[in-house]
Amino acid sequence: MKPEKVLLISGSPRKDGNTALVLERCADRLEELGLETEVIGLAGRPVASCVACYKCLGSGICSLDDDLNEIAGKIRAARGLIVGSPVYFGTARGDLLNLLQRVGMLSYNNDKFLSWKVGGPVAVNRRGGATSVIQELLMFFFINEMIVPGSTYWNILYGKKPGEALQDGEGMTTLLRFAENVGKIILRLK
Ligand SMILES: Cc1cc2nc3c(=O)[nH]c(=O)nc-3n(C[C@H](O)[C@H](O)[C@H](O)COP(=O)(O)O)c2cc1C
Repeated sequence: MKPEKVLLISGSPRKDGNTALVLERCADRLEELGLETEVIGLAGRPVASCVACYKCLGSGICSLDDDLNEIAGKIRAARGLIVGSPVYFGTARGDLLNLLQRVGMLSYNNDKFLSWKVGGPVAVNRRGGATSVIQELLMFFFINEMIVPGSTYWNILYGKKPGEALQDGEGMTTLLRFAENVGKIILRLK
């Protein structure tokens, strides 16, 4: 039988930035548990904001011409979804919020394909704002009936230059335990 898949999305514009690097570590942990993973990112891949055309109602397809429909297809096919954002002025990066709002509309107004997917948010900051970003991103998970496991702290990492977040020992311990909990729940729900 094919293993269940977890999709991990980095909302950073930096291809090999902290967000992408810490999500790669989550993917490694999930693969150790026997799950399949794919890490994708928004570097060089702008995602526009929802224009409220409501054309997705019924069609299940977003009318805007960027990579959103392709990414939504990957989310639909996955059993788990972990999203990571750099903290920008105390909030999540705009393009990631655009993605979540548009995917949310596709699911919520159609077949609710997000329901019962397992996952949660991750936030990377230099100094402050990460807990607000976790709260901000959780709004997407909870309104879409998704299952979000906890960890021993919140999924927040500290770092500025690419790679620094990997040196945040407590942050990484928390995050890898969260990833492990995502994997364990998926395997138990099978
Ligand atoms: C536009 C912008 C705004 C930022 N705002 C914050 C902030 O509010 N708080 C903070 O701690 N770090 C802030 N940072 C720093 C980033 O969150 C930090 O460098 C993070 O590691 C970037 O993740 P990345 O390497 O995945 O892109 C900001 C960076 C940029 C480019």
